[in-house]
Amino acid sequence: MAKLIVVTRDGTEKAIEGDTNLSVMENIRDAGFDELLALCGGCCSCATCHVIVDPAFADKLPAISEDENDLLDSSSFREANSRLSCQLPFNDSLDGLRITIAPED
Ligand code: FES
Repeated sequence: MAKLIVVTRDGTEKAIEGDTNLSVMENIRDAGFDELLALCGGCCSCATCHVIVDPAFADKLPAISEDENDLLDSSSFREANSRLSCQLPFNDSLDGLRITIAPED
C-alpha cells in the first residue's frame, strides 16, 4: 500500500491508501470519487479520467502514449502535467502522489 492524495474539483484534498495492483484511476474510483467518471473503464478511449499530476512525480510516470496524448488534446483543460489516470499503474514509487481531478469538459 502507498498513499495517494486526491484533490477534487472543489479543492478538497483527501489521502487514500492506494492498491499497487490497480491503476491510479481504479484507486480513485474505488475510493468513491464519483466525479472521476472513467467512462470507458480504462481503455484509453474517453478522457473522463483526466487528472493533473504533481510535477514532482512526472519522471516516475510511464511515458505518454500517442493515444493518450491525442485524447488529452481533446480536453479544453489540458495542462503541462495532465495525464489520463487509467494509464498510470500505481506502485510504491508513487507513494505520496498528489493528483487533482481535472475540470469536466
Ligand atoms: S477511463 Fe477512459 S480514458 Fe481513462
